[in-house]
Amino acid sequence: MIDKLSRYGASIFSTMTGLAIKHNAINLAQGFPDFPVDPRLIELVNKAMVDGYNQYARPIGAPDLHREIESLIFGNYGRSIKGEEELTIYPGASTAIYIAVQAIINPGDEVIIFEPAYECYAPAIEIFGGIVKPIRLRPPDFTIDWEEVSSVFSDKTRLIILNNPHNPTASVWNREDFEALSGLVDERDCYILADEVYEFINYTDEGHLSIHSHEHLREKAVAVSSFGKSLHVTGWRMGYCVAPVEVTVAMRKINQFSVFCGNHAVQKGIADYLRLYFDSAKLRKEFMIKRDLVVDMLVASKWKTLPCNGSYFIMMDYSGISDLPSKEFAEWMVSKNSVALIPCSPFYSDTYDPKLVRLCFAKKEQTLKEAIEKLCKV
Ligand SMILES: Cc1ncc(COP(=O)(O)O)c(C=O)c1O
Repeated sequence: MIDKLSRYGASIFSTMTGLAIKHNAINLAQGFPDFPVDPRLIELVNKAMVDGYNQYARPIGAPDLHREIESLIFGNYGRSIKGEEELTIYPGASTAIYIAVQAIINPGDEVIIFEPAYECYAPAIEIFGGIVKPIRLRPPDFTIDWEEVSSVFSDKTRLIILNNPHNPTASVWNREDFEALSGLVDERDCYILADEVYEFINYTDEGHLSIHSHEHLREKAVAVSSFGKSLHVTGWRMGYCVAPVEVTVAMRKINQFSVFCGNHAVQKGIADYLRLYFDSAKLRKEFMIKRDLVVDMLVASKWKTLPCNGSYFIMMDYSGISDLPSKEFAEWMVSKNSVALIPCSPFYSDTYDPKLVRLCFAKKEQTLKEAIEKLCKV
């Protein structure tokens, strides 16, 4: 069989971005910033190229970057990792996720995911012969029903994929979720893939609750992060993964025969930037201002914004505007109202389709204001 993913079509993110270009609409669909990257970061990557970091990097990641990530994880979550054994740099979090799934599951293994789910999980599971076991989360708060998770958990469950803060719902995990998770996986031959690409974009008073902070879960946890999200450089493809030694060994083998290594100059530049300038509190604050701008501007409109506790997305209920299914509604919005949003339905594997669209607010204030003025007129 040539196309092992034949049941999947084009990604909804590329589709909506294509429609935004076609209709000359404002693109609040795809999750990438339209504001400039910190020029100091550009300068450091440029300097790394001038200084000769242009050949293969160490496959597990450049030593400088390893050191900075180790101190980032220690500083934020109090965890001392052994980078040489547990940390690997990948070209984007997506690659790390794909390789982790490939390393962990065997054909017939079951993988629990929470829907709405980021689009790369299910295809990665299916291409390696795994069986997706979706748990449906529902609006408005998308909390996890742990009894349902427990009823789906079986002897074949090999992996649970969580995403915290969550794309697209902007919900975050609380302490009870972690307790329930550890009750479930304790003594079981099951790993956890924690997709934490929005770890620095959490708006709760408590701050981000990372799997790194849970000592008893670490031995089962594959934690994935993305500099694309944390440094506004999604096109540079730079992510990393901390995993138990046996998983790291398996993942690194796959990496060495496929990707081999991440972009060397970018790794060096990011390492220097983390050491000199990275300020996660500032990042969080800047996004909080954008989130509040969106929510405040939409208060008097027909849209209803759902709670946003993390990530740079916000879910918007359009039931006061239309009865259309979310995909058709998003197509109507981009073609007739010149704002591209992401419909909710592609994040579910079945026909569940709440009247929700996702708005990405990782945009300049001016872009947001222009787009929301259009939304308010609908
Ligand atoms: C939840 C989630 N995981 C993973 C990724 C992929 O990150 P990267 O661009 O580093 O591959 C994204 C990107 O949008 C995401 O939203």
